[in-house]
Amino acid sequence: NPNYLKMEETSGLQQVNCRAKGGASGFKVAILGAAGGIGQPLAMLMKMNPLVSVLHLYDVVNSPGVTADISHMDTGAVVRGFLGQSQLEDALVGMDLVIIPAGVPRKPGMTRDDLFNINAGIVKTLCEGIAKCCPNAIVNLISNPVNSTVPIAAEVFKKAGTYDPKRLLGVTMLDVVRANTFVAEVMGLDPREVDVPVVGGHAGVTILPLLSQVKPPCSFTPEETDYLTSRIQNGGTEVVEAKAGAGSATLSMAYAAVKFADACLRGLRGDAGVVQCAFVASQVTELPFFASKVRLGRTGIDEIYPLGPLNEYERVGLEKAKKELAESIQKGVSFIKK
Ligand code: NAD
Ligand code: LMR
Repeated sequence: NPNYLKMEETSGLQQVNCRAKGGASGFKVAILGAAGGIGQPLAMLMKMNPLVSVLHLYDVVNSPGVTADISHMDTGAVVRGFLGQSQLEDALVGMDLVIIPAGVPRKPGMTRDDLFNINAGIVKTLCEGIAKCCPNAIVNLISNPVNSTVPIAAEVFKKAGTYDPKRLLGVTMLDVVRANTFVAEVMGLDPREVDVPVVGGHAGVTILPLLSQVKPPCSFTPEETDYLTSRIQNGGTEVVEAKAGAGSATLSMAYAAVKFADACLRGLRGDAGVVQCAFVASQVTELPFFASKVRLGRTGIDEIYPLGPLNEYERVGLEKAKKELAESIQKGVSFIKK
């Protein structure tokens, strides 16, 4: 995959050193939900990442098979499998980064919020394990609805006395990946050279692409702006409908998750200037959580960037996004506080 190779290159010389040491100085990463549609390709791509020395694959089903399969890849990371709740703690002890794609996906006609009842409990249990076994790990939360599961995780960590907002990140990278792809298509550019900030959250109108800030600078007609905003906001639904009951985005999500996890690991390593969008505890708006560009460092989030100048179209979109986000955040908080 040429894009993955590009990511390796940007990870720089120290990765090569890691590999030369057999990965012994790399990071320990756990994937919770590793046998799922996202979990399997994500596990494969993380096994290919030279920054990873140990990869723990946890699921409530099928993790032994996935682990045996992935462990035959001749890359540096040592792979271990963990099955069922009784092995959750062993899966988590000593981890530097925990990636969570556990939970049910959407079927056609459902919103992400329709997944709340099942996924909220799953995320709660997994985060209780993290608070107990690896309270200093960076957490990348993928399970939907992200706009509610991140507040749930924060409340679990607060209850346990381990909460550090710098280490909890909701993964909105797929929105950026889609936005880069769709903008490149419209403008006739190479998607690898396009950078679209996507802020707000990860559901419908809360997904707010800032097309006025695209790099390289692009100028869009009102029709192009409408088309691109709507396509980016509905990218998940486009895949859910195409899969016709067989789940939601898994392969592009695994790609996005590994791109984001690699950024977190490069930050942990001390690389300068690692910036990605993520849904995090934030003071960028009046809401307690918001997705925007963040700079990643040795202890997680080092800096959260303001939104920058918005045009009128984006200001209207921001108000809509905040209204829905406020309710989703409150729903997550209440789930733990009730
Ligand atoms: P899937 O059903 O294929 O896989 C989910 C996996 O989670 C399964 O292997 C299942 O056994 C496992 N699981 C269930 N309960 C668990 C528990 N208590 N502990 C550990 N593992 C558990 O689903 P998928 O397609 O991989 O999607 C997973 C989640 O990711 C869904 O909630 C989906 O909506 C979400 N998602 C988010 C984004 C994003 O951009 N953030 C993108 C795509 C999908
Ligand atoms: C996505 O954006 O693809 C995911 O959030 C999955 C979904 O339900 O759309």
